[in-house]
Amino acid sequence: MERLGIDLIAAARPNFMKVAPLFHALHVQPWCKLRLVHTGQHYDRNMSEAFFRDLKLPSPDLHLGVGSGSHAEQTANVMLAYEQACVADRPDLVVVVGDVNSTLACALVGSKLRITVAHLEAGLRSRDRDMPEEINRLVTDTVADVLWTPSPDGDENLLAEGVAPDKITRVGNIMIDSYELMRGAIEASVERKRLGLLGREYGVVTLHRPSNVDESAPLAALVRQLKAVAVRLPLVFPVHPRTRKNLEAFGLWPELAEASGVTLIEPLGYVDFMNLVCGARLTITDSGGVQEETTYLGIPCLTLRTTTERPITVTEGTNRLVAVYALARTVEEILAGCWTHGRKPALWDGHTAARVAADIRRRLLGESDETEPAETAVRQAVGSA
Ligand code: UD1
Ligand code: UDP
Repeated sequence: MERLGIDLIAAARPNFMKVAPLFHALHVQPWCKLRLVHTGQHYDRNMSEAFFRDLKLPSPDLHLGVGSGSHAEQTANVMLAYEQACVADRPDLVVVVGDVNSTLACALVGSKLRITVAHLEAGLRSRDRDMPEEINRLVTDTVADVLWTPSPDGDENLLAEGVAPDKITRVGNIMIDSYELMRGAIEASVERKRLGLLGREYGVVTLHRPSNVDESAPLAALVRQLKAVAVRLPLVFPVHPRTRKNLEAFGLWPELAEASGVTLIEPLGYVDFMNLVCGARLTITDSGGVQEETTYLGIPCLTLRTTTERPITVTEGTNRLVAVYALARTVEEILAGCWTHGRKPALWDGHTAARVAADIRRRLLGESDETEPAETAVRQAVGSA
């Protein structure tokens, strides 16, 4: 039997958690031949390699090494390099995940070469085109042949945009698969202990959206609010490289680093970061993934944005959009016990990779829906079979 050639594209921090469960579900299947492609959008050890180690991913089969740049540079460089890779060794299916520049670039390359393109995490919309990710999502979903959605709003957005219903399969949230795969390691991590947080209440902060961190005045306002919060609740803040660069450039780093109750640390690997989140009283974030993980864990999440492409985390989960000026006041509400408990959305259950594998077989090989072989492969790969 000719095996189906599948390229799995990984590029930036949030991609690795989306790719890993699918890699583990697929790489031992006799019907497919996987190529793990890293575009190199993120390259620091603690933004890339650490995740390969934590998520038990092998070194990529192909590393495109594009690095940082303007949106056009980065997107174009990925396109140039990935086109060459596809011409040299043409896959049958390109799987892109999430909404980063590399997602868009590889979807465009696959589509122009008339290779089937599938998008995992399709249909999410913030309706805010000031976010580069919204443009990436719109274009990727327009050119993709297969759209795997995490929640009903994803299906509704795609249908409203005129996407044919038979292109869409709701598979659930792949981020939760990573959490469930790594749950043992997350619980065993000593990160909370290392930071002296055992038995203490604390909050976890992550920030990297250009709207929050790229200009001096909004970032200074944020720093003031974080300092005010930290007086009441100690805050641990693993600082994203974009944010660190800007805090330093605007002269805000010393003020935040020296503030009482604030601990600034390097970005953490997935297992240690989730160990920190699991024990937190609340999170303060602008991350997409953290909004989802806290909903799954039932931890209050304050999202410093005016929109979210993940509305189910607000309607069903523990997330709330908060203006920067209202941050300290909202934290007080949580400490006073005022917050919704939320529930886990449907299909956020750790079995999304198996559903994706079954959908690939159905669509590309004409075989029936069978999730069990992929489930077993995943359990074996992470040693929990
Ligand atoms: C990117 C994604 C964003 C995602 C985020 C996850 C786009 C448009 N943005 O944003 O959707 O939420 O990743 O973290 O694709 N840098 C380093 N080391 C690295 C990577 C980046 O120092 O390993 C610094 C560089 O100065 C770089 C800057 O961070 O210029 C921004 O990196 P980039 O990948 O362009 O965007 P992110 O802000 O990381
Ligand atoms: N994360 C991590 N270490 C950190 C901060 C975040 O492992 O120091 C994880 C987090 O648990 C989530 C993912 O990174 O799984 C989210 O990535 P990010 O916030 O960079 O991107 P976004 O989700 O906003 O696109």
